Amino acid sequence: MEMKKRSSFSSRIGFVLAAAGSAVGLGNIWRFPYLAAQYGGGIFLLVYLILAITFGFALMITEIAIGRKTGLSSIGAYRALDKRFGALGWLASLVPMIITPYYCVIGGWVVKYFVEYLVGSGTALSNGEYFTNFIGFLGEGTFSTPLPWFLIYVLLTAVVVLFGVEKGIEKVSKLMMPVLVLLTIVVAAFALTMDGAIEGLKFYLVPDFSNFSFKTVLAAMGQMFYSMSLAMGIMITYGSYMPKESNLERSVGQIEIFDTAIAFLAGLMIVPAVVAFNGGDPSKINAGPGLMFGTLPQVFERMWMGHIIGGVFFLLVLFAALTSSISLMETVVSIVCDKLHCNRKLATVIVTIGVLLLGLPSCLGYGPLASVQILGMAFLDFFDFISNSVMMPIVAFFTCILIGHICGTKLVSDEVEKNFPFHRKALFEVMVRWVAPILLVVILGSKILEVLGVLKI
Ligand code: PHE
Repeated sequence: MEMKKRSSFSSRIGFVLAAAGSAVGLGNIWRFPYLAAQYGGGIFLLVYLILAITFGFALMITEIAIGRKTGLSSIGAYRALDKRFGALGWLASLVPMIITPYYCVIGGWVVKYFVEYLVGSGTALSNGEYFTNFIGFLGEGTFSTPLPWFLIYVLLTAVVVLFGVEKGIEKVSKLMMPVLVLLTIVVAAFALTMDGAIEGLKFYLVPDFSNFSFKTVLAAMGQMFYSMSLAMGIMITYGSYMPKESNLERSVGQIEIFDTAIAFLAGLMIVPAVVAFNGGDPSKINAGPGLMFGTLPQVFERMWMGHIIGGVFFLLVLFAALTSSISLMETVVSIVCDKLHCNRKLATVIVTIGVLLLGLPSCLGYGPLASVQILGMAFLDFFDFISNSVMMPIVAFFTCILIGHICGTKLVSDEVEKNFPFHRKALFEVMVRWVAPILLVVILGSKILEVLGVLKI
């Protein structure tokens, strides 16, 4: 097996923080709450938590262990484990290429909202129609459309990657993360004082089994991959930089807890508030990608010093998003670098142009291109669906087959047990060998049949 000497993170905590920086982002703050609202509240939360501590845990352990063992990133790592699985590395690498462009579109929305608070236009944001007008290109002037903001966000990400100042950004974001957690708690606490919010809190926390469906599981699973940066080779790359002597299982536990806690808090801040604005009736929620942008400004509008809090909040979200998009773009750049044998600068320029071109349809998809739908979805929703609900489950499935039935789970457990006991080894083995692959086949199969119109779920 090919073994390379790699530079490593200097400490285990350094590794955990970097991986958490990649994991915590728009997935937690923007995506999780709207899915929770859309897929039945408490039941979604419950399914998500169960999946995260079983399947998510097993997959993250697997990916990091593969990376640390082989010392390679995904394309090389899968091939090193089994020649026939080289294509899987490619498929995994394709995922960040699809996600990065639309991630930057949403990043652009965040920049816009931050700037509006900065220039004192917070009240306008709290108008119910603001967000739809914004993404629908209905406002006056270029800056009232998402296009320039998308551009700004892509350039922000690209500049960091181009000049290699990720370390600086990571330092700043490490300082900001605790503030984000604190602020989220404050906003959530305030939101819960609004009329009707308690109904919303119940909807978010108490599972209603009549809301359960296949879709809940599929959505929760896609969200788990997305939020924890799984099934796209990223954790393999991070693992390849992890020091051999550090405690792998413990690190995974910490990343997971952190990631899940932030998602949970974001939901607590947004879901009860939406229900409150709907007059306390959860069945009337019309949740979609715009949920955070439509709801939070209305909450801030009612808070003491709300415009300042709103501005700070969107700035913090911007940093959380940047650390994730940097990690996404970074991955794509290193693939382009390796495959085209060009230098990093050129690769970054190529990737930036690619991101701009590929992101454009998502950016215009609710406005000038609204009439173009793929499988009944706008571009952004389609890219989100194809990556999270189709490609990632496929990557996860084959990773489970490779480790569970071809290489053997011992490959991973030996790596985890190098210096420390592997407490949840039995859970890991059952998940990777049986539960996860079966679940993936059932869920993915039924979804595909549904999209093809064969099955109604
Ligand atoms: N996990 C990130 C989020 O929750 C998204 C992401 C996926 C970032 C993959 C990097 C790699 O926003």
